[in-house]
Amino acid sequence: AESPLDIVPVAGRIGAEIRGIALSGDLDDATIAAIRAALVRHKVIFFRDQHELDDARQEAFAEKLGEPVAHPTVPVAEGSRFLLELDSREGYAASSWHTDVTFVPAYPEASILRAIVIPEAGGDTLWANTVTAYEELPEPLRLLVDNLKAVHTNLYDYAGHFANLPQDKLEQHRAVFASTVYETEHPVVRVHPESGERSLLLGHFVKQFVGLNGADSQRLLAVLQDHVVKPENTVRWRWRAGDVAIWDNRATQHRAIADFGLQRRHLRRATIAGTVPVGIDG
Ligand code: SIN
Repeated sequence: AESPLDIVPVAGRIGAEIRGIALSGDLDDATIAAIRAALVRHKVIFFRDQHELDDARQEAFAEKLGEPVAHPTVPVAEGSRFLLELDSREGYAASSWHTDVTFVPAYPEASILRAIVIPEAGGDTLWANTVTAYEELPEPLRLLVDNLKAVHTNLYDYAGHFANLPQDKLEQHRAVFASTVYETEHPVVRVHPESGERSLLLGHFVKQFVGLNGADSQRLLAVLQDHVVKPENTVRWRWRAGDVAIWDNRATQHRAIADFGLQRRHLRRATIAGTVPVGIDG
């Protein structure tokens, strides 16, 4: 059906901007349903100039979109109920490809990221479409992943994730992020609960494929990740303060680009609860 929203695609396979909506406003059920439909279809949606959206209104909007959840290990942002702080002053730029929180069984279905302070230049975010990545796999690789499972953990490669972060900061972050260690087995191919699309469920929390050793796992992961992150599957967003990006965490990976030196980059993220992923065999 035709969407009532003003939707402008940003890239060929993923990403669209939605214009003329204030997320801080009193959105009715039909508008929320249209936003959810656009999210499933375009996988990441962008809203410019949401300057009225403070912490409380970001939380209120998240509650309309779904059931918000705090991060399993990182304390909530000061003064908020469930927002995650992403502030480069804390040494933070999540600069390796991942899907959020895949180390728990029912990982989030969506994230709502709001830009508060953005560098003059740099600090863009990339998203990749994990559905087209699966669809484009050559047949032998598709047959391989259709029956594969992976172990995801929050004890992952922090040094590869946080570009330029000094060792002591890295250790501090690890102490918080992995204060409780999770290991969760997921199917590598996830069937989307709303669209029925098949997608690759991978990213930097993958530790190992079930039945393969660590070395083979890392090589196979690199092969598959190359298919996920090829430029044709991605969209890149040049942030302005006041922007909001919402992504379908069941059909995407993302990463920040850590090219902004010592400039401040500050965002806050709300996360919407998800369901345990279901593979091809149900
Ligand atoms: C995230 O990984 O959720 C944040 C991405 C970003 O900082 O652009």
